[in-house]
Amino acid sequence: MLVAPSILSADFGKLNEEIRAICEGGCDLVHVDVMDGHFVPNMTIGPVVVNPVSKVSTAPLDIHLMVEDNAFFVDLFASCKPKYISFHIESEKHPHRLIQKIRGLGIKPAIVLNPHTPPEAIEYLLEDLDMVLLMSVNPGFGGQKFIKSVVEKALKLKELINKRNPNCLIEVDGGVNDKNIHELKNAGVDIVVAGSYVYGADDYSKAIKSLQV
Ligand code: DX5
Ligand code: ZN
Repeated sequence: MLVAPSILSADFGKLNEEIRAICEGGCDLVHVDVMDGHFVPNMTIGPVVVNPVSKVSTAPLDIHLMVEDNAFFVDLFASCKPKYISFHIESEKHPHRLIQKIRGLGIKPAIVLNPHTPPEAIEYLLEDLDMVLLMSVNPGFGGQKFIKSVVEKALKLKELINKRNPNCLIEVDGGVNDKNIHELKNAGVDIVVAGSYVYGADDYSKAIKSLQV
């Protein structure tokens, strides 16, 4: 299991230190939550903050857009050279076009599904995707309770992935900890995002390793 700590739960007053600590702690990716105050009832950070983060981080960036105007934000964050940019299927009228745009910028495209959205919604996009991100909380805030139906959804998605594009990865985001990590692993999940579990721990490295099952 690969682990992407979410910096949403980091102390932004000492962000450099917080990024270095998870990289030295062995994280596989750094998860960056971008919120516009419209698609979700919260706002976070833009490239003014994420550009310096990308310079400090030794792990690739995984940018999770929770916004209405996806194409605008893709252009805005392209200069941060992330490994992945994921956008919500619920906020995009032309997902296939946006996938091509992201790939054209040399970034791996991923789609996010909210807790209510069935995996079938993206069946015909799977062959063009590098990753699908399943939300296991409602997007907008860290520290929420894990929604268990994501386990069944991951199993269904895995069947579709095996049929359409076995190279596509499954990532789960929200409420992940050492209690639910094994059921996620058994359901075929490849990457987990963990915010409060990692940044709430005394020892970040130990917390990260406890998820790398
Ligand atoms: C929620 C974000 C998550 C969040 C996860 O909108 O997408 O990445 O930071 O935080 P935890 O792990 O605390 O649920
Ligand atoms: Zn996220």
